[in-house]
Amino acid sequence: MVLFVTLGLIGGGLAAGGFVFNHEQNTLKVGSSAVKKEHMEHESWNAVVDNYVYIHNAFRNHLAYIRKGCESGKDMSKEFALWCKILELHSKVEDELLIPALDARLKEQNADNGSDKLIPEDILSGKDHDKVHDLIEAVSAMIKETNPDKGSLVSKLSELETALDEHLLQEELYVMPLMLKAFTTRELWALDSFIVNEKLGYCDKDTLIVITKWWFGNISIKEGIPLFQNFARAGNQAPMPIEDWKKLQDTIPALKPFATEDIMS
Ligand SMILES: [Fe+2]
Ligand SMILES: [Fe+2]
Repeated sequence: MVLFVTLGLIGGGLAAGGFVFNHEQNTLKVGSSAVKKEHMEHESWNAVVDNYVYIHNAFRNHLAYIRKGCESGKDMSKEFALWCKILELHSKVEDELLIPALDARLKEQNADNGSDKLIPEDILSGKDHDKVHDLIEAVSAMIKETNPDKGSLVSKLSELETALDEHLLQEELYVMPLMLKAFTTRELWALDSFIVNEKLGYCDKDTLIVITKWWFGNISIKEGIPLFQNFARAGNQAPMPIEDWKKLQDTIPALKPFATEDIMS
């Protein structure tokens, strides 16, 4: 709860200071071609849009900004290192928390009687993340060089942008609608809370501040405002019974070592 309040204060402070949306002058990606009217009208929409649209667009926009910087011959190695760190955390959360919980719930609901009700194989296995990771390694090696070959670096970054976009779109097309169908709104906010629960070790307070600043700075104001409102929603959730937390916990191997009380927030 304290973390969400902190997030809200940071977001509000940054917005008021005119510090955010620093790429607004550039063409920023907004929304997703995967999102349909039925998703936006779904009662749980606000509980999935942050993790499946707004943060994805921050990754796309920041990577485009890095590539453009490299095209102009700037040293973008620090920007790229930050981008990598946040993407790594996002992917880890998906692989260790969100996908195992979704997979278990779909199996429980016996919902796998149609391809539209299945998590794509490469997302389930983590292979999709591996493909992006291999390109990240290649760019990292090049961008750290004292005088990287500009043409090769920009071309590798463009390759990474394409691979990342393909991966994110898969999640938006297939995972996001399944999350809406498989969980209650409160459960979705509970899954979201695991990411910022310091006891679970995914994101400490300092990292959270860095990510929040980065997030608002790399999305359009059109998405920054609803994101800010969702931070408030996340912090205002009614308590969920411990049995329901336990039910979620039991489907996520990474949370098994924790006391159920510690995963509640
Ligand atoms: Fe992912
Ligand atoms: Fe994602």
